[in-house]
Amino acid sequence: MTLSEKSASIIGTGSYLPEKVLTNADLETMVDTTDEWITTRTGIKERRIAAREETTSFLATRAAQIALEDAGIAAESIQLIIVATFTGDMPMPATACLVQKNIGAPHAAAFDLSAACTGFVYGLSVARQFILSGFYDYVLVIAAEKLSSVTDWTDRNTCVLFGDGAGAAVVSSEPRGPRIVGEHLAADGSIFELLFMPGGGCLHPANHESVDQKLHFVKMSGREVFKYAVTSMVEAASKLIERYNLTAEDIRLFVPHQANKRIISEVGRYLGIPDERTYINVHKYGNMSSATTAVGMDEAIRNNEFMPGDKILVVAFGGGFTSGAVLLEW
Ligand code: ACO
Repeated sequence: MTLSEKSASIIGTGSYLPEKVLTNADLETMVDTTDEWITTRTGIKERRIAAREETTSFLATRAAQIALEDAGIAAESIQLIIVATFTGDMPMPATACLVQKNIGAPHAAAFDLSAACTGFVYGLSVARQFILSGFYDYVLVIAAEKLSSVTDWTDRNTCVLFGDGAGAAVVSSEPRGPRIVGEHLAADGSIFELLFMPGGGCLHPANHESVDQKLHFVKMSGREVFKYAVTSMVEAASKLIERYNLTAEDIRLFVPHQANKRIISEVGRYLGIPDERTYINVHKYGNMSSATTAVGMDEAIRNNEFMPGDKILVVAFGGGFTSGAVLLEW
């Protein structure tokens, strides 16, 4: 196959959600909130919380194994593992290396990718470039987060929003399953302080002071993030739709980052894509950062019948700020 004939397709997907369910009623007993407030402001009804031993690498491994089985390929065939996460097991080594060990993929290079909630979209794009260049034929892209480990469970502004989970996709030069047609990636670091986790890096290493100041938890300016989420996801989606001379009517299924039902509907309204053609699971899982689009794409692919030519648009935004979109064609 010549380089120009190469294409990157998603030949298998999988996801893993921890068993423990934390409902809005449970949260009512933990902080000053109500099911009514959470439901009307976010659309979230419940979220999954990983057990102590269920680390991010554990969640990632489970999702990866299901994706490999779905693809019908052995772990030994994988040449690169990318784990999109900001809640890895440890700062070093990369969680991707732990997954490499767990699934038994001795021929794979492995690294983590830091793009917060846009991590899965960024990861699919990186995988696609490795496939198109001819460097690799099988890349495993995993998005996994244990957000419960960086959530301040006394802060009602944030603790009602997040959940744990993982999703994975096998990206390959084999022409089967949906093809990744193209992507748009963007970033704006000038407003990073609207959504960040200040502690744990070299700026604020872990010490008594940083722990007392709760610097190891996610900090967020909700209203500003809401506005950026809508504008950046609309822009990323529109850029791709225009680049391929499509209209909103051409999108069979829209799979947006699931931070909040109101954000999803607002983005759909601007794009002209109704809720009926939008995959929504935020009520079940809350915001799982990078894992959200990975799990959403996996569930959307498993729960829908697609015809040749059907297009799926996966769009995300996240801390950084980062944003991006990936267009798939069946
Ligand atoms: N229960 C009850 N009241 C609450 C809660 C809660 N859980 N949380 C906040 N409130 C209160 C606030 O204290 C405030 O009260 P006040 O007016 O007396 O000060 C009031 O509700 C309104 O707060 P707002 O922030 O104005 O509420 P808003 O309508 O903006 O909704 C929300 C808040 C849901 C956070 C919204 O802004 C949002 O979804 N923003 C985007 C969040 C997001 O997408 N984050 C991505 C994070 S991704 C990541 O990195 C993991």
